[in-house]
Amino acid sequence: MEIKALAICGSLRKDSYNRKLLALAKKIVADMDMECAELDLKKLDIPMYDGDIQEKGLPKSVLAAKKEIENCDLLLIASPEYNNSVSGVLKNLIDWASRGNNSFDGKVAAIFGASMGQFGTVRGQLHLRQILAYLNVLIVAQPQVYVWSCDKAFNSDGTLIDAKTADLLKQLIAGSVALVKCKK
Ligand SMILES: Cc1cc2nc3c(=O)[nH]c(=O)nc-3n(C[C@H](O)[C@H](O)[C@H](O)COP(=O)(O)O)c2cc1C
Repeated sequence: MEIKALAICGSLRKDSYNRKLLALAKKIVADMDMECAELDLKKLDIPMYDGDIQEKGLPKSVLAAKKEIENCDLLLIASPEYNNSVSGVLKNLIDWASRGNNSFDGKVAAIFGASMGQFGTVRGQLHLRQILAYLNVLIVAQPQVYVWSCDKAFNSDGTLIDAKTADLLKQLIAGSVALVKCKK
């Protein structure tokens, strides 16, 4: 069965730790012989959600993002935690992609994140779970993947120092793929 994954990073920063974590998730997906595209939010440069813009028609960047989301089976979302919630960039994408039709409807997502704090995006991921649940996105309950003190969490080759967290990421993706297969 062909499964298409779509990677999304909630940070625009070039040296983002979440981008590093997402790169590991993409590698796991590639090792499972699955296709994985990336929605590059920096390149897409989606405007801030504005109902007046929407009334004139969804912007091209939003239509492109919606198409990518609708074409995938599995979303891989790495988001930083900003002030105990998801990043504004990610929330803006979600808000736009839920307009017109809800592009997230019925998708499966694997969510994970890295932060400087000691809780490793726990609170941001709770919000993300809640937002995506409203949009009818399925997320496995366990395992949950949190990378804390992210500036000290990676080896120079981009792998995670903590083998247990690396394994949890694999388990999360395997569980999410199994959920996609159940749905298909
Ligand atoms: C606006 C803002 C709010 C932040 N809030 C939190 C927070 O609530 N919890 C936390 O652990 N780190 C917080 N941080 C620090 C981030 O964890 C850190 O900047 C991290 O490197 C961001 O992810 P990135 O490396 O993928 O860009 C915040 C950073 C910014 C810029």
